[in-house]
Amino acid sequence: MKPILETKDLCVSYGNTKILENINISINKGEILGIVGESGSGKSTLLKSLVSLLPSNAKIEHGNIFLENKDLVKLSKEELRQIRGKEISIVFQNSGASLCPIRTIEKQFMESAKAHQDISDEDIRKSIDEIFPKIHLKDVDRILKSYPFELSGGMNQRVGIALAMLNKPSIILADEPTSALDVTAQAQVVKTLMRLRDDFNTSIIMITHNMGVVSYMVDKVAVMYNGRVVEYGSKKDIINRPLHPYTQMLIKSTPNMKKGKLYGIPGKAPVFGDAKRGCAFVDRCNKSMGKCYTEIPSTVSYDNSIVNCHLYKELAEEEIIV
Ligand SMILES: Nc1ncnc2c1ncn2[C@@H]1O[C@H](COP(=O)(O)OP(=O)(O)O)[C@@H](O)[C@H]1O
Ligand code: SF4
Ligand SMILES: [Mg+2]
Repeated sequence: MKPILETKDLCVSYGNTKILENINISINKGEILGIVGESGSGKSTLLKSLVSLLPSNAKIEHGNIFLENKDLVKLSKEELRQIRGKEISIVFQNSGASLCPIRTIEKQFMESAKAHQDISDEDIRKSIDEIFPKIHLKDVDRILKSYPFELSGGMNQRVGIALAMLNKPSIILADEPTSALDVTAQAQVVKTLMRLRDDFNTSIIMITHNMGVVSYMVDKVAVMYNGRVVEYGSKKDIINRPLHPYTQMLIKSTPNMKKGKLYGIPGKAPVFGDAKRGCAFVDRCNKSMGKCYTEIPSTVSYDNSIVNCHLYKELAEEEIIV
């Protein structure tokens, strides 16, 4: 199957500081990809680059972002504006804050639909009436007449998802959509996203800190560390037999009521822009060896996953990027 969205060796900098290095991820129709990794590893930068919402000091240095047959890196601002919201939409951590505070929900839905389609108010309302019940937003009239501050955090987040769905995009990007919510609202948002995939075959790329969400909803996982994807594979493989020492520690550090003891990953992530001679994880790794200090590991494919670690170079089927 040809992926619906695919990055090839994507590199992004802020000013002179390289942040994302050679990112290769892809997603098929109806698939859910989870992106995990510590704060500051470049997850939001990656998502913003996919939807062309990078800040003005950022630059795509190299690489491609293929949306079906179009390379988004080569499109004009106007062409990208047309794609954003129509073919790819993004949901932020706190949709309430990204909704306009002084316009009703209804007005914001009308404006968003009309920006992309020649569509009447009646047809927009028909779309709203189709989407809202699917994500358990009842009392449509009341919600449409409300301002964002009149709705709860969980409700605003689901309104944000409904708004992102309005033009029936093929891909939704979600940047920690549950982390600002209480547990009940988190579960509703996760169920909402799952229904979109089931009912509309929407592909979803989702950043999350929550390994529970990963094991419940995603199909595959990209683990990011210091601007690189250090492990990439199916959820089953990543959870059951993580290869990269960082992924192993990340899974071990997931709170587990049965184990009762909390495990933290020792040390701190390296600063971006510092010249590295070896692996960025070396100071924190429990499996490091001599060459980890002097050689940057290559990314290889091993046992159905992609991994960036010296431990797998000799065992690998294929060297993907040096
Ligand atoms: N607008 C910006 N200008 C300069 N540096 C930035 C900007 N946004 C993020 N960064 C830096 O890029 C790195 C990755 O950030 P980010 O993509 O937000 O990571 P994550 O989402 O994984 O927490 C961090 O070191 C952060 O400080
Ligand atoms: S390359 Fe070396 S330091 Fe880096 S993760 Fe692998 S074993 Fe650890
Ligand atoms: Mg982020």
